[in-house]
Amino acid sequence: MPGHALHDAGPDAGSTETKESILVLDRDPGLQFAFVKHLESWSERCLLAEDAQDLLAKMDSEPEVCAVFLNIAAPGMHSVDLLEAIGEKDPETAVVLMTDYLDPSLALSLLKNGAFDYIRKPFLFEEIRVLLHRIREHRALRSQALALQVLQETKRVERQNLIDFMIGLANVIDAKSPYTKEHSDRVALMTKAFTRHLGLSEKEIEDISFGAKLHDIGKVGIPDRILEATGRLSKEDRQLMNDHPVTGAKILEPIEVMRDIIPMVLRHHENWDGSGYPDGLKGEEVPLGARIVKIVDYFDAITSKRPYREPLPDMEAIQVLEAERGRILDPSLTDRFIELIRKGGLRQPKVSGVLPAVRL
Ligand SMILES: [Fe+2]
Ligand SMILES: [Fe+2]
Repeated sequence: MPGHALHDAGPDAGSTETKESILVLDRDPGLQFAFVKHLESWSERCLLAEDAQDLLAKMDSEPEVCAVFLNIAAPGMHSVDLLEAIGEKDPETAVVLMTDYLDPSLALSLLKNGAFDYIRKPFLFEEIRVLLHRIREHRALRSQALALQVLQETKRVERQNLIDFMIGLANVIDAKSPYTKEHSDRVALMTKAFTRHLGLSEKEIEDISFGAKLHDIGKVGIPDRILEATGRLSKEDRQLMNDHPVTGAKILEPIEVMRDIIPMVLRHHENWDGSGYPDGLKGEEVPLGARIVKIVDYFDAITSKRPYREPLPDMEAIQVLEAERGRILDPSLTDRFIELIRKGGLRQPKVSGVLPAVRL
């Protein structure tokens, strides 16, 4: 009775209404009959295949094939090839091999090639029922795992989109003025070298460097005329400028993946002696990442060209850093930073453009 399909609900159905099919390929008419009879009583949809080609054709025509019960000596194709062809059509279809005698090496190679299990003839149909139960459990777990994978991938893409958006925003701010061109890139690159030099963990290195890239993101709220100004700012404009750490933190606050970045954005203008803004935090009250970015941001400012002076060479920059050590800059971190400059580990990217006098 090849091609026989059963739809009737049986008395003890565990999977009524399912559209999944179970395919059986075995030339033994007695076994075919027994499969149809038992699967019908369990309300399963059972299709009998004549040979390997017929089985593959049925896999194409059936919406979903849950399991294939396959004689290891199936007519029409070697079982290893047939197993592969089934896997290509639907890797989620479970293949159970039925054997007249147990050849452990063949069984092992078939299992390695993706067979779900094998069963030795003669068997009790209760064993088939248990196998079907296991297959359904396995499929449920697989579909949960796949759903989780899709969810994780969606989250990863969303996270990456947010990161890309923020990086784009930081680049837009840099590009607003020819004086700040590539500033955030330089600060991020030097911060990465510095955090590595300090021997911080990979997570800290990534977070602090990303914070360095975004440290001035709050400048998005500052009018261009202030950003582009090259002279002294009025008191009001200075206040607007000084709001950028808080504005930046507010931009990032609602975004969960940005939480660890906020300290560098909010605190990069706090000073070691408490004279900075927005809150006048002192010493180690300022988070480590922000003290690091502060030093690098400061160094980039003094080694970049400004409208009224050339960039300071490294040796002069070191003198300025030493003068600010313990005043606006964390003293021991400054020592480590100077150490890094001296050993040539900073490799500051080429400075282009001029930086406005009002930046720091
Ligand atoms: Fe800033
Ligand atoms: Fe900056």
